[in-house]
Amino acid sequence: MTVKISPSILSADFTKLKDELAALEAAGADYIHIDVMDGRFVPNITIGPFIVEAVKRASKLPLDVHLMIEEPERYVGEFAKAGSAIITVHAEATRHLHRTVQAIKELGVKAGVSLNPATPASALEEILPDVDLVLIMSVNPGFSGQGFIPGSLRKIEIVRKMIDAAGRAIELEVDGGIKVSNIKDAAGAGAGVFVSGSGVLGTPDYKKTIAAMRAAAAGC
Ligand code: DX5
Ligand code: ZN
Repeated sequence: MTVKISPSILSADFTKLKDELAALEAAGADYIHIDVMDGRFVPNITIGPFIVEAVKRASKLPLDVHLMIEEPERYVGEFAKAGSAIITVHAEATRHLHRTVQAIKELGVKAGVSLNPATPASALEEILPDVDLVLIMSVNPGFSGQGFIPGSLRKIEIVRKMIDAAGRAIELEVDGGIKVSNIKDAAGAGAGVFVSGSGVLGTPDYKKTIAAMRAAAAGC
């Protein structure tokens, strides 16, 4: 399985965002993960389409945009226009998940669905045929730097089986508390795309860290 690393710029130094993006690209990142928070779905407010558009101008990497906002359907158009390659919404945040996923795809963007730690894998059953990516949260969303919730591994295993049974190329991404020290467990459970904020940007050498993550994950 190919390993993709998606560093989260939530842990970046925003006074030098352009340099951070260049460093991540040079370090071999596959995607740039952008955490959008509204202060309602999660207890933090972060980035809007304005910053996504600036990141798009400063990086060639595909933008992996994670919407932690209520009623994301109201904003998918703006985030698509800002240059998102993937837009992921939370199953818990939108009343008509199927309609929201279709709307993202109609905008020409890959559609992802994310589950909070307490949401069962079964919430994906009906929507799986329509999605390009599933994002399993391994922390409660809202902040970087939290500890990986070990119970997430079981959910990754279940979703991996669901994806394999679906017989389509659906990326399985894990987000929250991923470090060089535990990426092997998440890869072993079946994840293929790894978001890491503090696990990459909190280390002195991004290139070394990403290479170590890739090697640890690929060993599975
Ligand atoms: C959490 C965000 C994550 C976070 C990851 O709500 O969705 O993407 O930035 O940060 P770390 O890797 O430090 O847990
Ligand atoms: Zn995220």
